[in-house]
Amino acid sequence: MRLDKFMAQAGAGTRSQVKEYIRKGNVAVNGSVVKRPELAVNELTDDIQLFGEKLCFKQYHYYMLNKPAGVVTATKDNHEMTVMDLMRTAQGRDLFPVGRLDKDTVGLLIITDDGELSHRLLSPKRHVEKTYYVEYEGELFPDAAERLARGVDIGDAAPTLPARACMTASCSLELSITEGRYHQVKRMIQAVGGKVTYLKRTAFGGLCLDESLPEGAWRELSEEETTQLKAHGRL
Ligand code: URA
Repeated sequence: MRLDKFMAQAGAGTRSQVKEYIRKGNVAVNGSVVKRPELAVNELTDDIQLFGEKLCFKQYHYYMLNKPAGVVTATKDNHEMTVMDLMRTAQGRDLFPVGRLDKDTVGLLIITDDGELSHRLLSPKRHVEKTYYVEYEGELFPDAAERLARGVDIGDAAPTLPARACMTASCSLELSITEGRYHQVKRMIQAVGGKVTYLKRTAFGGLCLDESLPEGAWRELSEEETTQLKAHGRL
């Protein structure tokens, strides 16, 4: 593998940033400073250091983004800002969002280059749980939580799968679902008498949104979080 590719994959920076580090003599391979970004390295056996710190090879990368409103969940869009535009410094990898949040929805979005895990997390067979904090207007049916727990008709061929609803205040609730249908939460709330005015995803596959991340900010998942996410993809 090329040295600059290895470094970008190890999280040292974008391809152009790491080329600059190499040219400036900040990178050593097996103890010798190297200045050629195209140098072939063995990612498993070579000791590659940036500013004297060893870089570790990572095949895949996992991030959480606190998605803000007004940004579309796509990798590219000719007219709108995308979630990937918010992650410029992580670029250089083939990253994409796991699933989709509506443009006006905020909260936890997982971004990765691990296609297989993404596929498993989104597979309708695996019923990976997603939790949303919902604010709504209108009067919900008195038995809304029971209806949501049984499954509601949202106009699709089949009713929704059982969901957990916990009323948190007069016009808000927490809803956990195990499917990913189009506008699912909005349509479920409509089916029990309300209209969603604010929607935030707070958890996905056992992973909780890091509330210290401001909207629009992102960070790499810790090893523990990555392991937990992978475990949910295997369930
Ligand atoms: N359900 C919705 O209605 N919108 C989202 O963005 C996610 C779930």
